[in-house]
Amino acid sequence: MNKNDSAYFIEFAEHGDERGNLVVVEGERDVPFAIQRVFYIYGSDTDMVRGQHANRKSQFVLINVAGQSKVKVMDGLGNEAVFCLNRPRTGVYIPTMAWKEMYDFSPDAVLLCLASEHYDESEYIRDFDAFEAEIAAMHKGGAQ
Ligand code: TYD
Repeated sequence: MNKNDSAYFIEFAEHGDERGNLVVVEGERDVPFAIQRVFYIYGSDTDMVRGQHANRKSQFVLINVAGQSKVKVMDGLGNEAVFCLNRPRTGVYIPTMAWKEMYDFSPDAVLLCLASEHYDESEYIRDFDAFEAEIAAMHKGGAQ
């Protein structure tokens, strides 16, 4: 799988049998990066908005392994997409330099996040105006 500049759904193979379901996510096979970090979010109120940041280096895949939530992804150029995550075998890929917001968490939501990088706060952009300015500068400079 290749890195993509846009967010997109990923459907994972299901290896279930009469004993139950099993979903496998392998780095560089089922997601387009080597997985360096795993974290998960649960217990967020329905009216809580999480994320609200972009990452200069990290790519992510988000999977609601339980319950559901929505993920809004914005490219800083005026385009946005909303992904509804409501199945343990469906994820959303989020590229670098994408503004993301997670919200509408169901009470039972467990949002699993796979990341391409170890945690480094300095690669997070947490101000939307600063994010838009960096995107504008990238395009002005001819960066992809
Ligand atoms: P934050 O990035 O605000 O969470 P979210 O994007 O899911 O809303 O992170 C919340 C806190 O957790 C913040 O103090 C940073 C810390 N944190 C880590 O130490 N390591 C991590 O991998 C992540 C994602 C967060």
